[in-house]
Amino acid sequence: MKQREGFSSGLTVFLVTLSSAVGLGNIWLFPYLTGSNGGAAFILIYLLCIAIVGLPVMLCEFFMGRRTKKNIIGAVTTLSNKKAFKSIGYLGMASTAMIAFFYAVVAGWVYSYVLKSITGTFKGVTNTEVKEIFTSSTTSIFPPAIWVFIVLTVVSIILISGVKKGIEKVTKVLMPILLILLVICVIKSLTLSGAKEGIEFLFKPDFSKVNMAVVVSALGLSFFKLSLGMGTMTTYASYYTKDSNLYGNAAKVIISDTLVSLLAGLAIFPAVFSFGLDPSSGPSLLFETIPLIFSKIPGGSILIVAFFLTAAFASTMALISMIEVLVAYFTEEKKMDRTKAVIIIVSVIFIVSAITSMTVSGGILSKYPLFDTFDKLTSSILLPLGGLIIAIFIGWFVNKKDFLDELSNEGALKQNITAAKISYIIIKFVTPILLIIVFLSSIGVI
Ligand code: PFF
Repeated sequence: MKQREGFSSGLTVFLVTLSSAVGLGNIWLFPYLTGSNGGAAFILIYLLCIAIVGLPVMLCEFFMGRRTKKNIIGAVTTLSNKKAFKSIGYLGMASTAMIAFFYAVVAGWVYSYVLKSITGTFKGVTNTEVKEIFTSSTTSIFPPAIWVFIVLTVVSIILISGVKKGIEKVTKVLMPILLILLVICVIKSLTLSGAKEGIEFLFKPDFSKVNMAVVVSALGLSFFKLSLGMGTMTTYASYYTKDSNLYGNAAKVIISDTLVSLLAGLAIFPAVFSFGLDPSSGPSLLFETIPLIFSKIPGGSILIVAFFLTAAFASTMALISMIEVLVAYFTEEKKMDRTKAVIIIVSVIFIVSAITSMTVSGGILSKYPLFDTFDKLTSSILLPLGGLIIAIFIGWFVNKKDFLDELSNEGALKQNITAAKISYIIIKFVTPILLIIVFLSSIGVI
């Protein structure tokens, strides 16, 4: 039998997992949700969601993946013979596909902005012009679909090259570049006059904007951000080495991912305030406000390339991790050849994404709000639901000893044993109850 591929070392395990977490969520969603929901107050709620829900679900997924060394369906069926739990796998695959449908569209806009930045499209643009550029980038029929095609071609080439020669190799090169580019943008933004107000906005909470809807969106963001509730982390953990420390890795990934989000906030908000622009402009923050700012600052024409390259790298690696969930399933459960599986899956994603790209506001299919539906349905409902079922599955239907053994590397990591016991209680009671409460209130029942 062909040997199953895996990542080569502890550092790679960390970098590749981080490369799934870091994405448009950090550079696009996190800043605009923070901007429109009370700055630091939103960040605090988001951090709470990560601590009480995100970390436990991440541990569950790491456990499922590394224990079984299988794709999401294989993992669930190995751990329990209850057929009903296969739903975790099917729900997860449906969620990853739906996210990929709109994610590929936004990644396409980002790629097109890399080219526009390189060719100097944003030099000296006015407020009205950036708006026009964004509208024409998103609403014409062919360019968005062509960009989706380019993004998915890049993603396919990397996926076809395999787990080690594709995903691992590319991540090791791109992640450090991404971080360096981001730090350069932050330094520039922080040295602008009036940057202080932006920093205050990020770190001084305004609780007047917080309500249940804000809590629901922070929870959705925490799942989306950490690629949880749909089997992505299970799939990546199935490629982990047996000696990697699952706790240490979860902590490092969560802390680093949050730092990247904060860095993105620090690259954006000081500059936004420095130019007196609106921090709560919503989704257009990345595609209108950023080009406008960079067009005004010295060296901006180079920095903007760095900024959109960062976003392009991040979105490519996140997309890879989503699609790998499906590739692992088809190659392992359906015994399909990897190249064939990638081509079929990516072709379907391309067709649906191309149609989705025409459904944004102003697009020719805007009557059918597919883009918004995929976005809302996944973040607000499917991912937390997936997380809830995963927590119930691990807490109530899987052998506790297996969980404790796996998280402590069969007892070799002594300090993890107590931590695993505490996590198990949280996974069994706290996480499900909290998720159910937030759910019921989001649909107006309580
Ligand atoms: N975590 C990614 C981000 O924040 O952009 C998004 C993501 C990646 C979601 C992988 C789902 C997934 F399977």
